[in-house]
Amino acid sequence: MTARFEALLDTARALLPRAHVPYSGQAEAAVALAADGSLVPGVRVESASFSLVIPASQNAVTTAVALGYRQLAALALAGRPATAATGAYVRGLPGSWERVDGAVWINRDVETPEVGAVVDPFIGRTATDPVSLVRRVAGHAWVPESAFPVGCVVVLPDGRGLPGVNVEHPDWNSILCAERNALSTAVTWGCPPALRVVLTCLRDPDGTPCGACRQLLVELAPDAQVIMDRGDRPPETADVRTLLPGAFDGRGLAVR
Ligand code: THU
Repeated sequence: MTARFEALLDTARALLPRAHVPYSGQAEAAVALAADGSLVPGVRVESASFSLVIPASQNAVTTAVALGYRQLAALALAGRPATAATGAYVRGLPGSWERVDGAVWINRDVETPEVGAVVDPFIGRTATDPVSLVRRVAGHAWVPESAFPVGCVVVLPDGRGLPGVNVEHPDWNSILCAERNALSTAVTWGCPPALRVVLTCLRDPDGTPCGACRQLLVELAPDAQVIMDRGDRPPETADVRTLLPGAFDGRGLAVR
């Protein structure tokens, strides 16, 4: 294992306390190494609806895509041991991925760069128009399966935003929507719950968060207002709690 991969693993290990793992208690964190050396982290985000869990590797990769990184050179995983599903996810990403160690994968199509700094994902500090911001974000969507780009910005209580786009995968079960992408990035950076979630679907003037995203919105940003860009019309707004009445909140589940 070369020193640069050790540096990736160290970055991932340092993020383990940020993992949102109330149901398994098994923290997991990943770091993607972009072609320019930038490090993009992601933690495991569990949902009361267990099958909606966002694995750390998926959180890191989708954060990278939302930030405009298309070429990833390596991925390192710390904490919870990798499963067959982790390997299948990584091998389905663009490129020629190979596992070089129990917890590190490299993309043979991209030259491994020197390891640089962790990215700054916060956007829109000075944005006055959240709709034009989210439309720009949607331009980063990775949509080879649907050609249906979606963009999302979660706005934190301090006014900073975090971007999300839909990131597709040959295994449709591993596709992440824009909203869950942005919400899970907020967890990686240890942010408080978002107060606004701005959404745009360029191809659907009636676009609205899917059921899975509504579930994660209830769990991670229950007091947020969702603002849906409607093209030429004024955006439509709705409270998260009204979007999913009677939501399953996992109150009866064992929390570790
Ligand atoms: N999609 C989103 O990003 N958000 C939603 O709320 C609805 C669906 C994406 C996921 C997938 O890439 C494509 O749209 C079709 O489902």
